Amino acid sequence: MSNSPVDQHAAFLADVLKGLSSPQPSIPCKYLYDATGSELFEQICKTPEYYVTRADLALHEAHVAEFANLIGPGAHIIEFGAGSGIKTRKLLASLETPRAYTPIEISAAALAASTRDLSRAFPEIEIRPLQADYTQLIRAKDLALDPPAQRKIVYFPGSTISNFTHSEAQTFLKRMRRIAGRDGGVLIGVDLVKQQKRLLAAYDDAAGITAAFNLNLLDRLARELDAALNREDFAHEARYNSDKRRVEMHLVARRDTQIELAGQEFTFSAGQSIHTENSHKYSVRDFRQLAESAGLKIQSTWKDPEGLFSMHFLRPMAPARRAPTQ
Ligand code: TRP
Repeated sequence: MSNSPVDQHAAFLADVLKGLSSPQPSIPCKYLYDATGSELFEQICKTPEYYVTRADLALHEAHVAEFANLIGPGAHIIEFGAGSGIKTRKLLASLETPRAYTPIEISAAALAASTRDLSRAFPEIEIRPLQADYTQLIRAKDLALDPPAQRKIVYFPGSTISNFTHSEAQTFLKRMRRIAGRDGGVLIGVDLVKQQKRLLAAYDDAAGITAAFNLNLLDRLARELDAALNREDFAHEARYNSDKRRVEMHLVARRDTQIELAGQEFTFSAGQSIHTENSHKYSVRDFRQLAESAGLKIQSTWKDPEGLFSMHFLRPMAPARRAPTQ
């Protein structure tokens, strides 16, 4: 994978052209997170409606000693995403003689900030940042320690797993299992199915921050890809898709309108939409099934008192013994 600005720009354009050409127009959700988007996302986490961040933190506060107990001594913690937040600190502070901590993060700036903050806070822990896209294959040698850690633990809080489809999530969990190896584990946050009203409010806050976050995509198209469009012709909408048990974010055309991009014209009649993100919700049972389909068994589950959010400690299932062949 090349990372040059020219290649990134070409990939952005190609992805948007492809997405807008499909029967249900869409744009990949990763493009929501430029500098402005990331800043807006942090604000979303502070809105009264977005319960995820608070519930996740409350679970860490209440149960981090149990997490640490299950993880055991001498562990190598491998976080998907750059953790410099309170949750990572709580976890690292609770562990018994941790061996090392590796944040895997695509943004060099976020990775550097996390490494700097955590090395300062935990001078006794070896911090081994890895700049990579954690949704892609991670090479075992990039995580190998000498001497090897007692256990490798993949740490993935925040319910980012929700933003994958079930089949993507399954592939992703299989990779986590491979990284953890036979003796390791996975500590993961998963948002739970709940009342629709509560869900929709979380993705459409009254102050309009989630709307601004979604509409920022159109600004990126105009600014970075030179698209001709009217931002005011689109409105943010959060929808609950009950078949797929997910909240979907859309940009809905408020009137007939068009987007011109790279010499092509994409027309939208009033009410048509561009699908920009999914957030899948699980029951504990749904998640158990998904994890088991990836060869992982739930060893422990924690829920906050309101039953909004869950954390799970997963262990690789023993491989099925092959029947002896005659
Ligand atoms: N993964 C979290 C979730 O699905 C955070 C998140 C991603 C989010 N995109 C979002 C929250 C858009 C609000 C709006 O909830």
